[in-house]
Amino acid sequence: MVVDPSLGELVPQQTSLRRPVSPPGQRLLLPHQRRGRVELSVDVVDRVDGVRHRRLVVDDAHTSSPTRTTLQAEFAAHDALLRAHPEWEAPVVRDGQLVLSNPASEFFYASPTMREWRVRLVPGAGALLPVQRPGISHLPSGAALDDTSVAIYRDALDSIGVRTRAVVLQEVARRDASRGRHDARPRWVSLASGAAVPVLDAMSSVEGLSLRPHLTLVDIDPDALALAERMVAEQGLARGEDVDLLQRDLVRDLLVRSTLLGEVGAGSVDLVEALGIFEYFRDPSCVRLLREAFRLLRPGGSLVVANMLSDRRELHFNQRAIGWPLLVPRSVQELVDLVRRAGLPLDRTTISIPQDGVYAVVDVVKPAS
Ligand SMILES: C[S@@+](CC[C@H](N)C(=O)[O-])C[C@H]1O[C@@H](n2cnc3c(N)ncnc32)[C@H](O)[C@@H]1O
Repeated sequence: MVVDPSLGELVPQQTSLRRPVSPPGQRLLLPHQRRGRVELSVDVVDRVDGVRHRRLVVDDAHTSSPTRTTLQAEFAAHDALLRAHPEWEAPVVRDGQLVLSNPASEFFYASPTMREWRVRLVPGAGALLPVQRPGISHLPSGAALDDTSVAIYRDALDSIGVRTRAVVLQEVARRDASRGRHDARPRWVSLASGAAVPVLDAMSSVEGLSLRPHLTLVDIDPDALALAERMVAEQGLARGEDVDLLQRDLVRDLLVRSTLLGEVGAGSVDLVEALGIFEYFRDPSCVRLLREAFRLLRPGGSLVVANMLSDRRELHFNQRAIGWPLLVPRSVQELVDLVRRAGLPLDRTTISIPQDGVYAVVDVVKPAS
């Protein structure tokens, strides 16, 4: 068991990007960039398969919230209620109306802002924005945040998990940058990028690169890419020169036909991240995604994916009070099996789980030769 000796290096550094800029007439989507950080990590390596298992203590940048303890107790109590009533069904959106059929979802959706969030934004990338940026004043769909929604986006376990998995990505990016080449511009790719908040935050957290990475954002949803384009502009990055946006279907264009591989360039990428997509894919698609995304990497590059854990706390609340649709939670062992089935090196695989226990982040480093 090793306590990470490099904690000093994990403290947030000055950004190497330009300051966010506000396009005329638009609210900033990236206000208050308070940065989370890994405070402690404990690693054990499985001597049989070589997988490194890490438990992290991650500061999600909002730990001092005055409402956190109460809100989490309320959610935990409603989770217990849902477990006692397996017959209670998840909320659904029917003809543009939110239909609530249990007291836990009535509690969760008491605020009109939360109802707009569910009806107009879930499960798209815009739904994650107020979670990734609890300081935002309005939803991307227009509603102003009220006190209840602010507390949920800041303090709920699921909100914290979305932010802590992004902090793990930042840590991987910094680790790779400290080991990487400094003679060529790094290339990063975000698959199912959504609004690109995690990968842009990872970029601004990396120090010491003489050349800023070039980023390719891939998503099926034009609305997600439109949000990403605003994020990119706010970060002072230029389309083309710094960032390419590709509207592509990962299933059709990477898993079935591999055209994205040719388009982006096999063996050309330093970092591929695909946070927030495994939950929507069945096992064979996850295996193909791992295999094809790994082919994008150059030797020494890293692939980062994440999956909601099946043994996480408040899974019932997530599925039948919030009712986030179509999720496939997985166990750590199931994730290891997917990596094995994809033929990726287990002894280059790390599974990181922050203390909230909502997501496991899997990173695999491509061997140098
Ligand atoms: C939960 S969001 C995650 C966004 C982002 N990675 C993050 O963590 O903030 C999932 C994203 O996957 C995209 N997506 C879903 N199916 C896809 C597919 N077949 N091809 C490309 N993108 C897809 C959605 O449009 C959405 O933006």
